[in-house]
Formats: sequence, C-alpha cells, structure tokens
Amino acid sequence: MKDRRQFIKLATASAVLLGTRNFPALAATATSAPIGIIGSGKVGSALGRSWIRSGHEVMFSSRNLESDKAFAAELGGKARAGTPAEALAFGDAVLIAVPYGALPDLGQSLGAALKGKVVIDACNPFPARDGDIATEAREKGAGVTSAKLLPGARIVRAFNAIGAARMGTAIDTPGKVGMPIASDDAAAIALASRLIRDVGYEPVLIGGLDMGKYLMPGTPLAGEHTPDEIRDIVAKLKAQ
Ligand SMILES: NC(=O)c1ccc[n+]([C@@H]2O[C@H](COP(=O)([O-])OP(=O)(O)OC[C@H]3O[C@@H](n4cnc5c(N)ncnc54)[C@H](OP(=O)(O)O)[C@@H]3O)[C@@H](O)[C@H]2O)c1
Repeated sequence: MKDRRQFIKLATASAVLLGTRNFPALAATATSAPIGIIGSGKVGSALGRSWIRSGHEVMFSSRNLESDKAFAAELGGKARAGTPAEALAFGDAVLIAVPYGALPDLGQSLGAALKGKVVIDACNPFPARDGDIATEAREKGAGVTSAKLLPGARIVRAFNAIGAARMGTAIDTPGKVGMPIASDDAAAIALASRLIRDVGYEPVLIGGLDMGKYLMPGTPLAGEHTPDEIRDIVAKLKAQ
C-alpha cells in the first residue's frame, strides 16, 4: 500500500473489524443499498435472495437476461434483472460471482464504469476451468489479479472459501460464521462489511488485497469458521 493516508484509513477499519472479538455481532442494517450482481448462478442467486430478505434492492445479471428476469420475477418487487453493465450502474456495491476465466473479458466490457465501484469479488481461480488466468491468479494471488482485471474497481474479496449451498441460510443464524475479507480500500470495506452482515456473516478483515491469496478453497481459511477461529488462523499464517 503506497499511500500513507490510505494505510491509516485501512488500519482504522482493520482495528474496528479485527477488534470485534470483545463485541457482539452487529445486527443487520436498517437502511437498504442497491446491489448489482454479475453472475446469478449458485453464489449470486443465494446471496441475492438473502439481500432481498434483508431489505435491499438487487439487480441480477449474467449472459442470459431471460433467465435472470424469470428469477427476479420469482423473488418479487425488490428484485430486477439487467445486463452486467446495468447491474454495475445500479449497485452501490456489485457482487461479481462468475467463473474466474470470465473476468478478463468482463473487465474489458465493463471498462471505465468500473472506476470507483465497490466490487465484492467472490470469484475463484481454477486452472482446469478457467485456463491461464487462473494459473496467474494462483501464482500472484487472486486479490491482486482481480484488481488488475477489473481496473479502477474498489475490490473486496469475500465469499470465496465457503460453499454456495449454505450461503443462503447464514441469514437465519446471524453472526455465527465469520467471513474473511481482504481489501485495500477502507470505504469499500465498510460498505461490504455491512452487506456481509446483512446476509448473516460476521466480516473479519484479514488484510489488504495481497492477503486475497488465502481467500480461496484449499487454504487454511477455507470452510466455515467462527470469527475468532478466523483471527487465530490469520495470526498463524502471518507468523509463518
Ligand atoms: N459454488 C460455490 O460453492 C462457490 C463458493 C465460493 C466461490 N465460488 C466462486 O464464485 C464464482 C461463481 O460460482 P458459482 O458456483 O455461482 O458458478 P455458477 O453457478 O456456474 O454461476 C456462474 C454465473 O456466472 C454467469 N456468467 C458466466 N460467464 C459470464 C460472463 N462472461 N458475464 C456475465 N455472467 C457470466 C453465469 O451465467 P451465464 O453462463 O448464463 O452467463 C452464471 O450465472 C466462481 O468463480 C466460483 O469459483 C463458488
């Protein structure tokens, strides 16, 4: 992190989040924020459904507008469907949940509209599915590689290392499961943290985007952990 002011802001946000060990999980927020979702598959549909349950307006998108329209109609008035560009424009924050191999083209097609957007990046790189870009992301870290592929976006890596099957039910037991997140942007961390709480997880900031290398399947942080367990795992990782 080159900028000192940015570092101080992030450190403050980190202290707030990492310091929550002695504080109860905050309740879901009362104010709603429009959320765009790019990739309305297993991850996008589960989280979108929960955000709607917690009072947010959500626009779903993929390359199949008809299927997104049908899903939105099923969810009712707070749900709508659009193109990825429309979902990006719609959201105060945008969840991107597509195969990692789709990110290079997506980043190009979204272009300048990405600048300044808070992007929650759930995408994981698997070379067998996603090709060379996944190999690069595994070598350099998924956080920094996503930042390169989505230039100008204020990226928060989250929802990477837990199964989609349970993402839609955390809202029923709020605060029990921790959500490790990584980002270099304090304001993006604040908004993403609020939205993560609203779907039932307690966010735990583990560090900047360079720590995104630990936010994918196959690392010690993968799977469901309590917030305290996440802090303990991260302390061990940082001590290595
Ligand atoms: N499944 C899990 O348990 C899980 C957990 C954590 C993280 N992840 C990661 O999250 C991402 C999504 O996983 P998923 O399981 O939700 O996958 P999925 O069920 O296959 O859904 C992927 C979604 O992305 C859309 N999509 C694909 N290419 C696109 C493009 N170029 N532009 C716009 N939309 C596109 C797909 O729709 P169309 O093909 O119709 O466009 C579909 O809606 C992956 O990177 C995955 O590794 C998955």
